Amino acid sequence: MRILVTGGAGYVGSVSVERLLNAGHAVWVLDDTSTGHAQAVPTEARFSRATYADEDPVTRLLVDNSIEAILHCAARSLVGESIRDPAVYYRSNVVGGVALLEAARRAGVERFVFSSTAAVYGVPAVTPITESTPLDPINPYGETKRTFEGALRWYGAAYGLRSIALRYFNVAGASERYGEDHDPETHLIPNILGAVESGRPMTLFGDDYPTPDGTPIRDYIHVEDLADAHLLALQAAGEPIQPGAEPALRLNLGTGLGFSVRQVLSSAETVIGGAVPHTTGPRRVGDPPVLVASAERAREVLGWTPRRGSLAEMIGSAWRWRQAHPGGYGEP
Ligand code: UFG
Repeated sequence: MRILVTGGAGYVGSVSVERLLNAGHAVWVLDDTSTGHAQAVPTEARFSRATYADEDPVTRLLVDNSIEAILHCAARSLVGESIRDPAVYYRSNVVGGVALLEAARRAGVERFVFSSTAAVYGVPAVTPITESTPLDPINPYGETKRTFEGALRWYGAAYGLRSIALRYFNVAGASERYGEDHDPETHLIPNILGAVESGRPMTLFGDDYPTPDGTPIRDYIHVEDLADAHLLALQAAGEPIQPGAEPALRLNLGTGLGFSVRQVLSSAETVIGGAVPHTTGPRRVGDPPVLVASAERAREVLGWTPRRGSLAEMIGSAWRWRQAHPGGYGEP
């Protein structure tokens, strides 16, 4: 298949591009590197350093290269930033996303896989979260992802776009070649590893949650398992839509297992073989106590099974990648 990956210079995008190439697909990457890194694009992919939000050039890229499917990983994705500056999120994730959909429509691309998020659920009343749990995002990041999921649904109904939105839970780990290099870094596992490297303590955001050890529980998924799901979703989005069937699928991607912040910390100490310097601070605004996926639907629909579900594998692969790449990709 000839596949365009937006955000292919980012964390999830680069590992997914690597997976698609290994499966024998031809891959084009579109990324303006505003948050990604040119060094993260596998050399076997064709790379355009440009935005997905410019309808005319993107249409030409799709037509000139006979692209058959789009994997849309590019987005603004920081919850805190989205609360401070929602305009940026609406412009990139919604307005820019619709420009990409229009380019796809003009070029006749009918398969579309979208990086969505557990943030569309907000603070769910029940656990585990299924795809029919009501959507109630509590920040502009989650809201803009939900809005784009809605666009996919109506593009499917009206224009025949076959799409799958993948709602990621907490992505972690690295492949051998590609890993997580964010600035600023907000995620738990890289912050733990960064504290070990620098000796500067990281902060546990709250230990008074209604959970067994008082720290929040999350469903961590290995980035390579996520990449496997992208490959399967791109294949599944090619199936003809049966009459009366929903053209736009939404699937949770998690393992169905929840780990607390303290459990992650203790697993990291085992993997590293030493203590993680840390302190305990107040809660971070907007952090729900428990977010755990039911991933049954992804298993049924895609035949996908997470194969690297242990915290030790996720933390261990992230640690190895960081040791092999001190300073990350080494560019802004
Ligand atoms: N945490 C700390 N210290 C840190 C970083 C995180 O204690 O330095 C805690 C958080 O409070 C949270 C847990 O570790 O309880 C996980 O935090 P992350 O920032 O790693 O991940 P989130 O669960 O906040 O966010 C993830 C995705 C978001 C998505 C969200 C859905 O990264 O993109 O799930 O709610 F929006």
